[in-house]
Amino acid sequence: MNIKSSSSELFQGFSKLNLRERLNKLREMGALTEEDIYFLQTSVDPVLTDLAEKLVENVIGCFPLPLGIATNFQIDGEKYLIPMVVEETSIIAAASKTAKWIRSTGSITTEIDGDCIIGQVHFPSVKDFSALSQTIMAYKTQLIEELNQGVANGLFQRGGGVCDLVLREIPQKNQPSIAVLHVLLNPCDAMGANIISQVCEALKPRLATLTHERVGICILSNLVDSKITRVKIVLRNIDRTLGQAIEEAWVFAACDPYRAATHNKGVLNGMDAVLIATGNDWRAVEAGVHAYAARSGQYQPITRWQMQGDDLHGFFAAPVIVGTVGGVTRLHPTAQLCLRLLGVKNAESLSRVIAAVGLVQNLGALRALSEEGICQGHMKLHVDNLLMAAGAKTEQISTAREILQKILQQEKKISVTDAKQVLNDLELTS
Ligand code: MEV
Repeated sequence: MNIKSSSSELFQGFSKLNLRERLNKLREMGALTEEDIYFLQTSVDPVLTDLAEKLVENVIGCFPLPLGIATNFQIDGEKYLIPMVVEETSIIAAASKTAKWIRSTGSITTEIDGDCIIGQVHFPSVKDFSALSQTIMAYKTQLIEELNQGVANGLFQRGGGVCDLVLREIPQKNQPSIAVLHVLLNPCDAMGANIISQVCEALKPRLATLTHERVGICILSNLVDSKITRVKIVLRNIDRTLGQAIEEAWVFAACDPYRAATHNKGVLNGMDAVLIATGNDWRAVEAGVHAYAARSGQYQPITRWQMQGDDLHGFFAAPVIVGTVGGVTRLHPTAQLCLRLLGVKNAESLSRVIAAVGLVQNLGALRALSEEGICQGHMKLHVDNLLMAAGAKTEQISTAREILQKILQQEKKISVTDAKQVLNDLELTS
C-alpha cells in the first residue's frame, strides 16, 4: 500500500473518529480510493456496519461470507437444516451428500459428558504447595458458596454456577512449583467466557488473602476436557473396499501428525462453518479441539473410523463449547436467523449438532479421498470460480463451463489459464 505521508501521527486519534471520518482519513492517506469507499459503504446493509461498530474497533466496513444450507441431516432422530458460513467450494455440497448417504443407511447419535467449563487461577511461584492445598480444601465449600451467592448468582439461579475447585501442581526444575486452581463452572446456555473470567477475578484477592501466595493471571482454559461432546455414526452394510479405505485413512492420521492436522482440518471445515453462522467463537473451539487432539503428547485425529463386521463406525470426541445466548449470538441478526433456522433448544443441542456436522464432513472428505480423490469433485464446483476469475461474461458461462468440464475430465486438472483460453476461443468463434 502506498501511504502518501509517513508518520505515526497519521493514526493519532484514529480510534476516536467516526466511520465517515475514518474513511476520509484513509483516503487522505492514499490508502483508499473514492471507489473503495463507495464499495465499502454500499456493499452491505448499513445495519450490519452499525453493528460492526458495536462489536469491534476502527471499523471501515464489513466482509460478508457466503451463507448456505446443508441438507439431509438427521441427528438423534431429528431432522435439521444446517446453516453454514464458509468460503471454500464443496464443503456444503459434501456435507449434504454425506448426510444423505448416512440417512439412507445409518444413523448419527450424540451425547455430552460433563457440563462444566474451566477457569484458571494461576499461582506463578508457590512457597508451600501442601499448605496451599490444605487451605483450598478447608475453604472450598465456603468459596463456592460465596461465588454462587455473588458474581455467579444469576447462573446459580438458573441451575448452573460454580460446581468445584480443583488444585493442580506444575513442578518446575530447581524452582518453586507453579500451581493452578481450576474453577469448574456450569454456564447453562452461555459459552461462558465472560462469566468464568469474572468468577476467577473475583476469587483472586480472596485467594491471595487466604493462602498468602502470590496470584498471577485469571482466565478460562479452552482445553475443556470436563465437557466432551461425542458423536457416533453407523453406516450399515457398507461396501467393504470403501469402508476399509476409510479405516486405513484414519489409521494413517492416527500414526502421523502431518496427516492428523489435515484430517482435523476437514472436521473443522464443517464445525467452523456452523460456529460462524451461529455467532459463536470459532477460535475458542478450534483451540480446544487442537489442544484436546494433542493431549497424549502426539497430535491425534479427533475422530475415529473402524469397520465392525459389514458396518462402518465413526466416532468424534472433543470439547465443543458454544452458546445460544449472549455475545454475538444475540446481537447479530444473521446469527439469530441461523439459530432459528437450526431450531436448537439450547447450547448442548447446538454443540451436538456442530460436532455431528464435523464428523459428517470428515466422512465426506475421507470418502472422496478414498474414491475419486478430492480434486475432481472440488474442481468441478470450482469451474465457475475459475471462469469468473478469467473474466467470463454471463452469457459465456454455460458454454465455457461445459468445455472446461471436458478438459477437466481429460486432463484431471484445470486452471485459470485454461479458463482464459476457453473464453478466448469462444470470442474468436462467435
Ligand atoms: C480440505 O479443505 C479438507 C481435506 O483436506 C480434509 C482431509 O484431507 O481429510 C479434504
